Amino acid sequence: MNVKKEQWGSRLGLILAMAGNSVGLGNFLRFPVQAVQNGGGTFIIPYLICFLLMGLPLLWIEWSMGRFGGRLGHHSTPFILDSMGKKSLWRYFGVFGIFTNLAVAAYYCYIESWTLSYAFHSIKGTFQGLSQTKIANYFDSYVGMETSFLGIPNEAILFFIICIFINTYILSKGLSGIERVAKIGMPLLILFGIFLALKGLTLGTSAASEEFPLANAWDGLNFLWTPDYTSLYKPKVWLAAAGQIFFTLSVGMGTIHCYAAYIDSKDDVALNATSAGFTNEFVEIVLGSLIVIPIAAGYFGLDWIKENMSFGTAFQTMPFLFNQWGAFFSSIAGVFWFGLLFFAGITSSLAMGTPWIGFMRDEFGWNISKGAYSFGFLTFCLGLPCILFYQYGFFDQYDYWAGTVSLVIFALAETILFAWVFGIDNGWKEINLGADIKIPLFFKWVIKFVTPALLLAVFLGALVTPEGNNWVGAISGFIEGQGWALDNSSLIHQITNTQLREELLSVTDSAQMDFLRKQIYYSNMSRLVLLSLFLFISILVFLAHKKRKKITSI
Ligand code: ALA
Repeated sequence: MNVKKEQWGSRLGLILAMAGNSVGLGNFLRFPVQAVQNGGGTFIIPYLICFLLMGLPLLWIEWSMGRFGGRLGHHSTPFILDSMGKKSLWRYFGVFGIFTNLAVAAYYCYIESWTLSYAFHSIKGTFQGLSQTKIANYFDSYVGMETSFLGIPNEAILFFIICIFINTYILSKGLSGIERVAKIGMPLLILFGIFLALKGLTLGTSAASEEFPLANAWDGLNFLWTPDYTSLYKPKVWLAAAGQIFFTLSVGMGTIHCYAAYIDSKDDVALNATSAGFTNEFVEIVLGSLIVIPIAAGYFGLDWIKENMSFGTAFQTMPFLFNQWGAFFSSIAGVFWFGLLFFAGITSSLAMGTPWIGFMRDEFGWNISKGAYSFGFLTFCLGLPCILFYQYGFFDQYDYWAGTVSLVIFALAETILFAWVFGIDNGWKEINLGADIKIPLFFKWVIKFVTPALLLAVFLGALVTPEGNNWVGAISGFIEGQGWALDNSSLIHQITNTQLREELLSVTDSAQMDFLRKQIYYSNMSRLVLLSLFLFISILVFLAHKKRKKITSI
């Protein structure tokens, strides 16, 4: 069903919205952690290779698939894929492009709401004068729902609702609302980022203390930027690098298809996709690495970073470090840091709302407001258990299955569809139609052979990760007939909760046993919720298809 064609207001608006879709919490919270946990300079080379051989090709594929579908009046992946593949299988692969966004939005908006709350508390001065331990504990109290906002209890839920409401309201204004937020949010984010990065760059050894005499901000940067070629032989690092590339570029999600479906049918995608991708990489590699790592290394030293760097550092440590800059600057830095995270987050979560809205509009004639508010409602319902059962890993399960595994499965399926079913010649023509740059022909072969092969390798690598990530030992053992022992991080052991079950067998304390049992229970529950969501969208796709068939047969 075709509805009135909505389009982006300007090319700048489109690129900023697309860049905003990619630039997100992943650039500032996930990238530094991945880089540190995978050996700093060891991580960078696989990361850059994954960008060139998977990230960029997937950007071109998704932009051109979106524009192709948009030409036919489709604004979400089920029928975009259907129009290229002509088999019902593709329609149902397209379900991933709505499912992933709803599931990721549920926990993503929750993190986004932390940034909003922390920006507020930075202005209010809540963290001033608190020790590092107290600031870290504050975060635990927050996610444990022990904090209140101006006397209203359950602050975490309150800010989550506020955050969903802001997203929903902007989405209800259509593409122009998204464009306006991107035009304000992206420059502000870069400005805030530059301010904090300058601080990171100029800290040097000036913040070394008696407790941390070796602290040096430059050590953090050297650790990240001294390339280590041995990583080329470490599949674990490759998997982490590929996962980061997917998440940061938002490829394999369905948002890019949706945004690109609203561009004019002959407008450039080659240069636009490349510009949006490189903008994301600039923000990630330059700003993402110049804030948390050097500032934390400047105060605590590199060893502390290697041992303690985690996703929570941004909330549990940064406010303490800002406190060292005096009352006034700590508030400013807090607002800049959490404001930057908020803008990064919201420009991505808005994109996550659009496939659902586009689908309900195309297939069931819903208007934008109804689509936007129903997205808000679904996000709230899916996100609430993440908040309530946060400590039992509900949230982590969403991140693993929807925010990691689904992206790879969908990216693999769409690359096969594009290069092998639709055909690489048609696909290459589609990428180059109206192109403002000439993409080297070499990439035609990369898209046909290298990208799907790498995606398959990433998927299989995650599915059957061998014990201790020792691939060489596992392969030679397998050849010698010793079987294949799986690591607990492998997808198969994740499904079977192997690690938790092993821990349960090894503990004797009843409180610990009870906690582990709850973790297993809630992990299973969260997968059940995700599976139900996937089935629910599949049913909608089935009904939409039936409706289309009825219309064409009249
Ligand atoms: N690409 C978005 C991010 O990096 C999802 O956070």
